[in-house]
Amino acid sequence: MFKIQLLLILLIPAQMFGQYEFKIDGQNYNIPSSVTKKKHIAFENECYQPIYKFKENEKVASIGAGWGINEIIYSLESPKLYFYLEDINAQFLNVSLLEKEIFLLQNSYGKQTKSEFRIYIGDSISTKLPKILFDKILIENSLHEFSNSYEMLCDIEQKLSNNGSLFVSEYISSKPNKRHKGCGKPMFLEPELINLFTKHNLILFKKYQPYLKKEDFIVFEFRKKI
Ligand SMILES: C[S@@+](CC[C@H](N)C(=O)[O-])C[C@H]1O[C@@H](n2cnc3c(N)ncnc32)[C@H](O)[C@@H]1O
Repeated sequence: MFKIQLLLILLIPAQMFGQYEFKIDGQNYNIPSSVTKKKHIAFENECYQPIYKFKENEKVASIGAGWGINEIIYSLESPKLYFYLEDINAQFLNVSLLEKEIFLLQNSYGKQTKSEFRIYIGDSISTKLPKILFDKILIENSLHEFSNSYEMLCDIEQKLSNNGSLFVSEYISSKPNKRHKGCGKPMFLEPELINLFTKHNLILFKKYQPYLKKEDFIVFEFRKKI
């Protein structure tokens, strides 16, 4: 009997002990086990490391970082970086959740992050990031959610170093008036997205397709026109 109980305890997944669970407005959420899997972490790094090409000690801002999972994943295969995670939603982007995620992802991948993470909560027109110049700025799948993209990009452009790169990833539509499946917000047409950045003195440097199976998901790299 004792042996069976012991076996059950060993087999019960960690989620059952609330390890992955957190509360927002009294509602329970789980960090999905799909994103903490070793295979997923390795795959995402294979897809994004050749694009972002992080170098030691770079300052990297991520705007609309959500709960910062992607950035922790990249950090597990990167030299020491300084991540400045920004979002408007403090319920998902906060220190206690970020610490849990770092713990889970490191354990699952069997490797420690060398990077440092800081959190900033912005508003709809400003990132509230400190006035420093970033080597790299990421806007991953969040530009289409900005209600005031012009103002946001004024702020973001000022914080990019003169030889820095701004990486913007989005699902791109080939036809007008299409909407994102999840949030229902309008999708960008490629020329529309590029024009938005041109207005801010940023020019398209390169385009990437991180996933073979998602041809409409594009990463655009912009650089300052000097
Ligand atoms: C689809 S999620 C993407 C999250 C994450 N970057 C990822 O790829 O998993 C879009 C995020 O953009 C954030 N967001 C919306 N408007 C924003 C704004 N003006 N400034 C910063 N973040 C914003 C939302 O709170 C949300 O976390």
